[in-house]
Amino acid sequence: MSIEEVIKKRLSIRKYDSRPIKREDIRSCLAAAQLAPSACNAQPWEFIIVDTPAIRDTLCDAILSGIYGLNSFIRDAPVLVVVVADEKKWFVKVCDFVRSTKLCLIDLGIACEHFVLRAAELGIGTCYLGWFNERKVKKILKIARTKRVHLVISMGYSLNNDTPQPKPRKELCEISRFL
Ligand SMILES: Cc1cc2nc3c(=O)[nH]c(=O)nc-3n(C[C@H](O)[C@H](O)[C@H](O)COP(=O)(O)O)c2cc1C
Repeated sequence: MSIEEVIKKRLSIRKYDSRPIKREDIRSCLAAAQLAPSACNAQPWEFIIVDTPAIRDTLCDAILSGIYGLNSFIRDAPVLVVVVADEKKWFVKVCDFVRSTKLCLIDLGIACEHFVLRAAELGIGTCYLGWFNERKVKKILKIARTKRVHLVISMGYSLNNDTPQPKPRKELCEISRFL
């Protein structure tokens, strides 16, 4: 599959069948994330893969607790990937301060996109989750207070090959210009 085909194939999948995902395939997605670029090569990420049903159920409760019940489709996902941000490099922090930005978030976004594109290539559906109870997730996974969880990714095979329609996108002329 060409990179263009993989990019077109990736869509947010929110209906999963119960087939488990081979750890070998998950490792392949992790290896794709591992190759992502990052500011100062800081690689400020850690991926916690939760595919043990009992732990996954507890994690689902944490993710959805309180006002975060919206993403209940994750209960059918056989795998949840908790993306932990671990910013350590002082030089990146200086850049962030001077430029008033957050390079770590860009790094995480790129690494996660590598991950989900490799999953798409393997025929595995994913959905990013930005709406979840971070405090509860960190508590049950015993993630240090200094670290952040900005994203969770749900993973699973799409139910009955029931692929959603691609979402509309802005026209190229709206999002770009040549000078
Ligand atoms: C940072 C981020 C956070 C997102 N959070 C959620 C979420 O909490 N729940 C959800 O169902 N989809 C979530 N999405 C998926 C977007 O809704 C989806 O990518 C967008 O509508 C485009 O559709 P597509 O992924 O099928 O191309 C998120 C996507 C991104 C990149």
